[in-house]
Amino acid sequence: MGSEVLLEVKDLSVGFGGQGVVHHAVRGISFEIRAGETLGLVGESGSGKSATSLALLRLLPEGARVGGTIRFDGEDLLALPEEAMRRRRGREIAMIFQEPMTALNPVMRVGTQIAEAVEAHHPEMGRKAVWARVLEAMEEVGLPEVERRAKDYPHQFSGGQRQRILIAMAIVNRPRLLIADEPTTALDVTVQAQILELLRELRREHGLAMLFISHDLAVVSQVADRVAVMQRGEIVEQAEAGTLFREPQHAYTRRLLASAPTMTTNRELPLATI
Ligand SMILES: Nc1ncnc2c1ncn2[C@@H]1O[C@H](COP(=O)(O)OP(=O)(O)O)[C@@H](O)[C@H]1O
Ligand SMILES: [Mg+2]
Repeated sequence: MGSEVLLEVKDLSVGFGGQGVVHHAVRGISFEIRAGETLGLVGESGSGKSATSLALLRLLPEGARVGGTIRFDGEDLLALPEEAMRRRRGREIAMIFQEPMTALNPVMRVGTQIAEAVEAHHPEMGRKAVWARVLEAMEEVGLPEVERRAKDYPHQFSGGQRQRILIAMAIVNRPRLLIADEPTTALDVTVQAQILELLRELRREHGLAMLFISHDLAVVSQVADRVAVMQRGEIVEQAEAGTLFREPQHAYTRRLLASAPTMTTNRELPLATI
């Protein structure tokens, strides 16, 4: 695993609203992700996880106030012109979100949607090369009969397969950082486990760094090297995954541990996977 710092977030804050009342969703958080490393970001609903991920991609709604610094590969993302940011988004930094159905266009063949992701960053590539890249990405995420299925529409796939399609779209340009915001929350437990295994595999094969976000500490424990615990906009604890589970320092972390559903049924799970 590489040891160079890929993403360096310092004192990041996000505020919503204006004219007097500003809601501080993120309150000065700092963390790093090294090349090839997975950082888990965990916290209950409303703690500021999604606001953080959107800030990293500069996808927050207009009017949101962002403070602090975000360095990706040494470059200050918050200072980049929008056009330069667009070139990095989806190519260097890719993302997958919770709801595979809303992220896919229902009336466009899935292969075409993945092809658009390639073409957005590689206008120089010919149609054949793009299509070959599409099929390769679909194979890589474990979709069956890719040549035939590439021509199907999103509703012809199961929930888990749709999430695989989104992952294919995210990795097709070989990003260095993948931001996964609750990527398995909408899936049932069996499918969730398969998607987590896929993410681990992609990481092994491509040295992909990941920010893995979930409200479920048990899920995070299955993929993260390190875990940052977020509560009301702040990171209250940050540690190696194994350490965090063995010796949680913060009361909030202990509460999350106790309430993680999959963990109470199998306490050995997080340690066994590390
Ligand atoms: N676009 C927005 N406008 C106003 N408030 C928002 C907006 N997005 C999120 N918030 C608020 O910011 C806080 C953090 O939200 P979010 O980052 O979505 O939490 P999480 O992803 O951890 O569940 C919440 O209180 C939420 O209501
Ligand atoms: Mg969220």
